[in-house]
Amino acid sequence: MRISVIGQGYVGLTISMGAISGGHEVLGVDHSQTVIDGLKSGISHIEGIPDSLIASAIKSGRYSPSISYELVNGSDLVVIAVPTPLNSDGRPDLSILKSAAKSLGSVLKKQTLIVSESTSHPGTLRELIKPLVDGENNLGHMYAISPERVDPGNAKFGTRNTPRIVGGLTDEARDAAVTFYRSFCDEVIPVSSAEVAEAAKLFENTFRFVNIGLVNEFSQIMGAMAIPVDEVLKAAATKPYGFMPFHPNVGIGGHCIPVDPLYLQARAAEFGLTSKYIAVSEEINHAMPKYMVERLADESGGLKGKKVLVVGVSYKAEIADTRETPAEPFVHHLREFGADVSWHDPIVNSWNGETSSPISGDYDLAVVLVAHSALNMEGWNGAPIFSINSHPKFPEWKPLLSVQPEK
Ligand SMILES: NC(=O)c1ccc[n+]([C@@H]2O[C@H](COP(=O)([O-])OP(=O)(O)OC[C@H]3O[C@@H](n4cnc5c(N)ncnc54)[C@H](O)[C@@H]3O)[C@@H](O)[C@H]2O)c1
Repeated sequence: MRISVIGQGYVGLTISMGAISGGHEVLGVDHSQTVIDGLKSGISHIEGIPDSLIASAIKSGRYSPSISYELVNGSDLVVIAVPTPLNSDGRPDLSILKSAAKSLGSVLKKQTLIVSESTSHPGTLRELIKPLVDGENNLGHMYAISPERVDPGNAKFGTRNTPRIVGGLTDEARDAAVTFYRSFCDEVIPVSSAEVAEAAKLFENTFRFVNIGLVNEFSQIMGAMAIPVDEVLKAAATKPYGFMPFHPNVGIGGHCIPVDPLYLQARAAEFGLTSKYIAVSEEINHAMPKYMVERLADESGGLKGKKVLVVGVSYKAEIADTRETPAEPFVHHLREFGADVSWHDPIVNSWNGETSSPISGDYDLAVVLVAHSALNMEGWNGAPIFSINSHPKFPEWKPLLSVQPEK
């Protein structure tokens, strides 16, 4: 099939490569000239997708990156994979999705199967995407949704072996989308409607959001009781059924887990409902950076005037993505406590208009938020190094969440 994938980021590029592995031809559309130029010269901007894969896809003639929507016309299937972030008020921002849908509507001249992989609230495909793509025309487009479950950097689960669900506005649309995904995914699960698929995605990530909130709150209670939370969680995780381990951390970050539950919350509000679980988990998760700064201040004898190096500013290990990273409020609170803060990240070169500082320097302490495998502390001046959780490779670090405060 001739596939067009709109958005060549974490999701779009992953699915483009998946479709190519399934024998399809892919036009990868992105409005960023930098992204397209990089891809055209065989350079991947996504961890887990090697340059060699992009280069060989281009060489095979089956992958064409482009900034032009015009070329999309004539595709058998279009996948939408554009961002669905929050706006500055923390509310769903569907403007990019709307703009992509309008652009598609203006270029598609024949009936096409359109599949959205962008995460949004139930009803988005039916009430927003379809009307914007259809516009005044009735070309009989078919619409389906297959919420993406990619976990960037996960070596165990990728496109092929992560089961995916597919719903459609019609059974015909859903079944055509199922056939497409079965060409490169081992397990594809049809569901009865687009709304079921959309809601399932939001619930998956809300489940994580709420459980992370629970364990973050629990870590604070354990801290107050001077009980090492990491040992408690390890002990609890020996139960072989009815328990799933989640880990406390400096906060919550990335494009999905802190964002998707708020899409569900906003949609629930349209029905006069509020999820108390989402509200309280949001409060707890967003309070963690400040709590961790307070712990650091306690453990290090105060932060005022101290030169602090924050190590690892992306939202998780091995990923350079800094969207919604908890490092941001953490650094903010450190500065509020009077610390003189620099940061270092071996895979993030620039962040918030600043560049990564070298490890060597006249620091009073370091605090490791994220330990990428590329992290090399050679050149460190020997001042105390704190971390959030304990790290098996660095027993000399002082983990703030499992340190037993003095009684
Ligand atoms: N990143 C993840 O781990 C992940 C996992 C599951 C689902 N999702 C969802 O997938 C969707 C895409 O997320 P992502 O992480 O791939 O985002 P991303 O920022 O990595 O990539 C999006 C790409 O779309 C491009 N773009 C923006 N507006 C465009 C437009 N109008 N036309 C064409 N291209 C445009 C951007 O330049 C960017 O390259 C979101 O809804 C997200 O919630 C993401």
